Amino acid sequence: MTGIGQHKDQAAAIERRIAELLGRMTLEEKIGQMSQVNAGEPGAPEYLGDALRAGQIGAVINLVDPAVANELQRIAAEESRLGIPLLVGRDVIHGFTTIAPIPLGLAATWDTELVRETAAVAAAEAAAAGINWTFAPMIDVARDPRWGRIAESFGEDPCLTARLGVAAIEGFQGDDLAAPGRIAACAKHFAGYGAVEGGRDYDATSIPENELRNVHMTPFRAAVDAGVATLMTSFSDLNGVPATANEFLLRDVLRDEWGYTGLVVSDWESIPQLSVHGVAADDRECAAQAATAGIDLEMASSTFRDHLPALVAEGRVSGEAIDAAVAHILRTKFRLGLFDDPYVDPGRLPSRPQDARLRVMKEAALKSAVLLKNDGHVLPLAPERPGTIAVIGPLADAAYEQLGTWVFDGDPGLSVTPLEGIRKLADGTTEVRYAPGMATSRTRSEEGFDEAVAAARAADAVILVLGEESILSGEAHCRADIGLPGAQPALVRRIRQLGKPVVAVILAGRPLTLTDVIDDLDGVLFAWHPGTMGGEAIAELLFGVESPSGKLPATFPRMVGQVPIYYGHKNTGKPPSPETVVHIDEIAPGAPQTSLGMTAFHLDAGYRPLFPFGHGLTYTQFRYAGLVLSRNELSVGESIDVSVEVANIGHREAEDVVQLYVRDLIGSVTRPVRELKAFRRVRLGPGESATVGFALHTDALAFYDRHNRLVVEPGEFHLWVGGSSEAGLRADFRVIGAD
Ligand code: BGC
Repeated sequence: MTGIGQHKDQAAAIERRIAELLGRMTLEEKIGQMSQVNAGEPGAPEYLGDALRAGQIGAVINLVDPAVANELQRIAAEESRLGIPLLVGRDVIHGFTTIAPIPLGLAATWDTELVRETAAVAAAEAAAAGINWTFAPMIDVARDPRWGRIAESFGEDPCLTARLGVAAIEGFQGDDLAAPGRIAACAKHFAGYGAVEGGRDYDATSIPENELRNVHMTPFRAAVDAGVATLMTSFSDLNGVPATANEFLLRDVLRDEWGYTGLVVSDWESIPQLSVHGVAADDRECAAQAATAGIDLEMASSTFRDHLPALVAEGRVSGEAIDAAVAHILRTKFRLGLFDDPYVDPGRLPSRPQDARLRVMKEAALKSAVLLKNDGHVLPLAPERPGTIAVIGPLADAAYEQLGTWVFDGDPGLSVTPLEGIRKLADGTTEVRYAPGMATSRTRSEEGFDEAVAAARAADAVILVLGEESILSGEAHCRADIGLPGAQPALVRRIRQLGKPVVAVILAGRPLTLTDVIDDLDGVLFAWHPGTMGGEAIAELLFGVESPSGKLPATFPRMVGQVPIYYGHKNTGKPPSPETVVHIDEIAPGAPQTSLGMTAFHLDAGYRPLFPFGHGLTYTQFRYAGLVLSRNELSVGESIDVSVEVANIGHREAEDVVQLYVRDLIGSVTRPVRELKAFRRVRLGPGESATVGFALHTDALAFYDRHNRLVVEPGEFHLWVGGSSEAGLRADFRVIGAD
């Protein structure tokens, strides 16, 4: 029998078992399946045992004890009437105990294989703790760095987010969800959460359907096509209807258009919050709206348990809606193999040795750091040079802070800090002097500056380890000012006055506005929150053991007032150019109203970001030439081959991320000025070159048109290939109708 045949048989068998089970379930047992309970509260495990016996619970969240998980599974399997096993969920976001860079950092690797690996490591560690379901990846397109959850995102671009989201899903789930060490993934938060007003978490969103489909839904569609087992709704209000009660999202698009058959979970208490939003008067109405809209499983709250029996009895919620929800939940449990074996035996799991897991996380940290600036080749520091380095800053030796947001189970004891990494590499040749300068990243006092200045004065070069502590990004941790917090800019200025070479390593959960410090720094390595192995990776990059290769997954604004600013914007009817931009300081007194360019820019910030999407320097230089298309005209349904010569014309081995962008010049709806369509890492030694090829199919050019139909519209396209979203090497092609 072929593999595909086998899958089909298994799927058919699962459908038979679901139908058979549904036929035997009482309404109460069905509603029990639709309830997920917080097991993280004291005393919960005991209460849960009784509820499980009675068939009142289908899933738990925040249980991380394998012995308790096994005991609960035993009760569910052996002591409940129908023996339905339990989903055990936990936020395993970028690692479990061994921590990878935050997702935004992982996105800066542009490395799908590596993202898959980090997720596989996390899945295996979590599975050993009895967990069979994670609430990741978050694939909300995030274009507002004020929003704390940009840390948990893959950045601003739908294509990059979709590719990395799918890689993470594959890493968690593998080919076979039932295989040991695999767990169900959850694509979240459907949909539009990244567009919260003002970058304030949980705030409302207003997203026209066309933008929703062309931008925010793109990664979710890819996740569904990749077989993601579960999806979570967003807390946010979408155009007046909160996502948790949004039939358009959950029924029309997700089920009817996309054919999704997995389960949909609400977010934490997002069902009772429907009344706080103001679309339902009470919990009962909340439950009715959520169940009708298409929520299968209620996270943390109990409105389903409390009200669905009566709502079904009176016909307010249909029996078919309940059956469909329960089928989605049971399907997930069958796919996970829980009916065959719900227990975890950590000893029997294929576990990679700790060293191997640390290696994966280190590679991710190495590839995620983005070299933003390197004036006068201040980096790499030569390790063999005798001398003294000063390591200064509140995040130089902060084992917990470098792990970033969402590390419930992360072990700071495993962390290698930048100071430790630098000390290890400098060993014996270079003296390292350390002074934190500030107690935390938010400290306003300059009390510690004198000690830091003394350390810097005695040094040949200064490494400042700056940024944001973990708590300043992540869920509910938004900032209106996204500069370096506290006295950090003042610290930079004090150190600069010494006239030494100064390099900043910045650890942060979001793009920061660095305009006020950038000129006082010779080099800037932006390392995000790099996880467990951050310090070792940073030291190797600083000393040139490895060359930086991260690329920005989100635009860095000059000023927060520029937000939203992203590369894939619309052209407008009045696009700015260097010729039309006037700076506020240059305006002549009494200038006539229409004398200032009349294009889309800010008088005080222009229209350019500080660093564009896709940007990242390294210790060598790459030259792009010879962009060739296999043809200049293709029909809908065909592909073109794109090839480009990439040469390393510097003196060090390094990797570049080759990026391919297109612009669809004329559409029935306006199209972005550039859109990422493909990317690939390439590693080249000094003097080496390679031909890098991409196949571009017209499917990749499809978009939702004026009537929100997915189409490929014939017409002219520009195509660029290069090392950032500002790549200049261009070739043009034309798409013609199918006949
Ligand atoms: C978050 C989700 C998370 C859930 C469970 C919510 O507050 O929005 O992303 O998975 O909590 O912890």
